[in-house]
Amino acid sequence: MNIQPFTLERYFAQYEFNAPYLLCTSDCESLTVGELLALEPGAAEGLQQCWLGYTESQGSPELRTEIAGLYHQIDLDDILVHAGAEEAIFNFMNAVLDPGDHVIVHSPCYQSLYEVARAAGCQLTRWATAEAEDWTLDLAWLEQHIQPNTKVIVVNCPHNPTGYLMSQDAQQQLIEIARCHNLLLFFDEVYRGLEYRPEDQLPAACDLYENAISLGVMSKTYGLAGLRIGWIATRNREVYQAMAAFKDYTTICNSAPSEYLAALALRQKGAIVERNLEIAKHNLALLNSFFDRHQAIFSWVPPKAGAIAFPGLKLNQSVEAFCADVVAQAGVLLLPGTKYDFDDRHFRVGFGRKNMPEALARLEAYLEEQIVV
Ligand SMILES: Cc1ncc(COP(=O)(O)O)c(C=O)c1O
Repeated sequence: MNIQPFTLERYFAQYEFNAPYLLCTSDCESLTVGELLALEPGAAEGLQQCWLGYTESQGSPELRTEIAGLYHQIDLDDILVHAGAEEAIFNFMNAVLDPGDHVIVHSPCYQSLYEVARAAGCQLTRWATAEAEDWTLDLAWLEQHIQPNTKVIVVNCPHNPTGYLMSQDAQQQLIEIARCHNLLLFFDEVYRGLEYRPEDQLPAACDLYENAISLGVMSKTYGLAGLRIGWIATRNREVYQAMAAFKDYTTICNSAPSEYLAALALRQKGAIVERNLEIAKHNLALLNSFFDRHQAIFSWVPPKAGAIAFPGLKLNQSVEAFCADVVAQAGVLLLPGTKYDFDDRHFRVGFGRKNMPEALARLEAYLEEQIVV
């Protein structure tokens, strides 16, 4: 398999555990095992009883029941649990796509959403979005670029890295296009639930369309990346069976303690998501006024959901060089757009963590000392 290095993950491997201030992470503030167990009476004893044998390959019925509860048209047999969203992406692309299939991918995007398909021998077309259009997906463009060999449309909404969220009308039109051309729709919904206005939340694609595959995970909205629990939800049995069979060659089954803790977190999702949304909204207000104060340096399209955004750098300088200097001088990690195979003018900020105000203050002090406009 000729797969390229995951540029963003290699960048995090270099900095994540030694840069003092992470101002570009994509997840929400996490919890300790003790804090999670404290949310439900008897949960600690339950964990002690957790059996450490092999688990059911598709995910425990308890966990799949909780996950199915996030959807309306999905039951537990439509859920396939994986080791994070990442394994689900890898397995979907490998199990469902054949060399020569054409794949249309929302761009810029999380690298595995296109790289795994490319490595599987697929032909890729990037469905490009631009800051000047508020990162909006153009449905007319999509229709014009569907080919006889197109098999899948890959969309990520709420979007990494821009925080873009399509309207419900646009989502409906997208589904009509996919249905009309009999295409699979792989909808990465890992930030679903982090909409700042509840009325902006999109229905899950798997509820609306029989050939959609909705991707979910415990890492982002719930802040529990260390559980490594993700899933797909789909009513397409062929896709489900192909992925279930492929999983026998990746992880076979999931970690029993992680499944137990993920089911607990989903039972307590109200409190967890409310806390995470509060942190993200508080931090976003700080970012809005920061970018307002620094309009000469940055362009800013406020996100609609999630805990990341993708501002532009107006200085006559490469973003790579800017980010390298910020981390060297101020200890603040930003993520250059080049790590998305995008341009050298944008960078990702993340604002899901509690210590984000401190990191932002550091960045502001750096600007005041180092940048003359
Ligand atoms: C859009 C998107 N999809 C999938 C993933 C993978 O999630 P996980 O690392 O929890 O498997 C990420 C992680 O950053 C992501 O941002």
